[in-house]
Amino acid sequence: MKLIRKTLCSLLAILMIILLLPIFVSAEGETQLQFGSDGKFRIMIFADTQDFSPVQETTLQMMHECLDKYTPDLVVFLGDQCIAVGDEEEYKTIKELTSPCVEKGVPYAIVFGNHDGERETSKETLLTYYQEFGCLTTDADPDIYGCGNSNLTVLSSDGKKTAFNLWFIDSGSSNPDKEVGGYDYVHEDQIEWYKKTAENLKKANGGKVVPSILFQHIIVPEAYEAIYPRLPFNMGKDYTIDGTTYFPVPFFNRHRGIILEPCSPSFINAGQWDAMVETGDVIATFHGHDHVNDFTATYEGIDIVNVPTVGCQAYSDAISRGAGLITLDEKDLSTYEYEMIYFFNMALEEDSEILSKDGARSEAYYKFIRFFRKFLDGIHNISVPKELENKIKKNY
Ligand SMILES: [Fe+2]
Repeated sequence: MKLIRKTLCSLLAILMIILLLPIFVSAEGETQLQFGSDGKFRIMIFADTQDFSPVQETTLQMMHECLDKYTPDLVVFLGDQCIAVGDEEEYKTIKELTSPCVEKGVPYAIVFGNHDGERETSKETLLTYYQEFGCLTTDADPDIYGCGNSNLTVLSSDGKKTAFNLWFIDSGSSNPDKEVGGYDYVHEDQIEWYKKTAENLKKANGGKVVPSILFQHIIVPEAYEAIYPRLPFNMGKDYTIDGTTYFPVPFFNRHRGIILEPCSPSFINAGQWDAMVETGDVIATFHGHDHVNDFTATYEGIDIVNVPTVGCQAYSDAISRGAGLITLDEKDLSTYEYEMIYFFNMALEEDSEILSKDGARSEAYYKFIRFFRKFLDGIHNISVPKELENKIKKNY
């Protein structure tokens, strides 16, 4: 009898250890990203869902179908996820928005956007809600400005070394300098944290910088240097960034994709870009915030990419709405592939259920939108420089 009890106790103990193991792993943030055996790592980007509970059915269906079709290794929510008011409503909205990833077991990370922390629930509390639903994002240094500033490394397919790195930076809400106004900026202590962390990664990598991509909601001010004409006179503070005034209509031939609203970075530049150029690790920066902009530009060797909204609740338009998809290949991590998965295309897939969801438009409407988008890209691409031509793959 004693032996049976002892055996049962041992089995029970083993069972408990097995059951608790994933919790320990998750609680200690030990989920380690890694390139697949094919040498690829795919990141899907959902920008500006900007919704409240119940989340738009069409948005959730789009996310589900994107995850099923493209099976990414990681999802990044690029900021402005919620506009719900009150702890309980924020919690419900986050649970719904992240449910496609949770249900399919796809790891995900977030950055905060300007709308995420501007209501009564703090970003620190919101982050605990995300973490409860398996989010990989941490607040690496709570003493620096913002919340959720962090990085995630990706191991090579053989698991022997850190092959790539992902930065997640909080670009804040509105500018604390009310005289200057506009949006917040990446502050000096965040830049110092980035430099120090990149240096540590480099040391651990035998003195070689670890190639990286940056995810940050509000676009870097250098987008203006990259694609907008400078003006020799001052047109007012709404057009002036860090002392330089720009004409708010972009050069046609300095970007690939479409820009349907003026980019809206902060008017203050604390030196984040220069730090990235000096460090030499970042190959591209990905931003949301301007919901109808869908473009890539290159400045000082780094790509600046604006990902349009995937959401059907916030302001948007049908020709740019969709999800971004980055594909990294460990054979050459000085570059990447990027494509937009447009909502109109997903809705027109044979086995799609988007058209049957509340809020969807007709098949004929999305067919017209696809035709119109092809037409716009056709005209624009005449002027796109060769080096940008292949940066965005079109999948229609
Ligand atoms: Fe935003």
